[in-house]
Amino acid sequence: MESVLVVGAGYMGSGIGQVCAQAGYKVYLMDIKAEALDRARSEIQWSLGRLESKGLLKDSPQTVFERIIFERDLSSAARVQWVIEAALETVDLKLELFGELDHLASPETPLASNSSFIPPTHIAQTTKHPERVLGLHFFGPVPLMGLVEVIKGEKTSPEVFERGVDFVKSLGKTPVRVQKDIPGFVMNRIFSAAFKEAVDLVANGVATPEDIDVGMELGYGWNVGPFVIADNSGLDTQVIIGQTMAALGLDNLVSHSDLIPQMVKDGRLGRKAGKGFYRYTPEGKRLPWGSDSPK
Ligand SMILES: NC(=O)c1ccc[n+]([C@@H]2O[C@H](COP(=O)([O-])OP(=O)(O)OC[C@H]3O[C@@H](n4cnc5c(N)ncnc54)[C@H](O)[C@@H]3O)[C@@H](O)[C@H]2O)c1
Repeated sequence: MESVLVVGAGYMGSGIGQVCAQAGYKVYLMDIKAEALDRARSEIQWSLGRLESKGLLKDSPQTVFERIIFERDLSSAARVQWVIEAALETVDLKLELFGELDHLASPETPLASNSSFIPPTHIAQTTKHPERVLGLHFFGPVPLMGLVEVIKGEKTSPEVFERGVDFVKSLGKTPVRVQKDIPGFVMNRIFSAAFKEAVDLVANGVATPEDIDVGMELGYGWNVGPFVIADNSGLDTQVIIGQTMAALGLDNLVSHSDLIPQMVKDGRLGRKAGKGFYRYTPEGKRLPWGSDSPK
């Protein structure tokens, strides 16, 4: 059985670990925080139960869950066929992690980053084998979203790039090839432009998040609107992403309003906190922020 190390067991890492296990890979899901691993365990069990109830799982939830090993260190890097990093979106952390992973993993093992914005060329700087570094940019919630951008760094070998495409297909996802690694790749540059405008419209009192979301769904055929996406991904993550984007020269795609930083200060972190642009019931039902308390 081929195996995958996923580094970081937060919102994205736990989802990536889960879909790899669903596809039959043995998964080492690693995080430095014990509570992140505990949360990942329960999120994955909950998600597998939901998928099974909808007839969307090939194997039993138990079988899939047993393919995942929860770990606190990177030692399994030496044993796996794939490494996917999904830790926080900060350049320094990724540089440090890739230096360490490059040292631990066999030179044949591709090292992928799930970074939202940071080019793999940049991340590969601290490695001796930049030809095996690439971007695999998943979309959240990972068990439900079909797209993965496969990003070629300047030094990524054509063979590793194609292995990335095949790996994504092996997960039952659809790869989009990004041949040149500019910050934000393709999808996040387009989304960020729309999201910046949406945040500024709310901050200036032009429209509510709910109305903008409904508008984007009905007017442009988006599956869900930008504020639903932001709540799902976490508003604290959005703040970090905004800082990283600015550092990468994408300041023109970041809202300069204080709306999201203030929401984060108020504990409105999005779905995971039960409140963000919307409120969420304990069962996960989404309600408009202005409506009565969740029942
Ligand atoms: N949130 C999204 O919608 C989304 C979508 C696509 C890509 N991404 C990218 O995925 C990555 C993870 O984002 P997330 O939303 O899952 O964040 P998250 O905050 O939910 O999870 C990050 C996890 O990384 C762990 N971590 C921190 N330092 C670590 C280290 N040195 N080693 C191992 N684990 C470490 C943290 O403890 C945390 O559990 C980021 O690069 C982000 O830009 C996020």
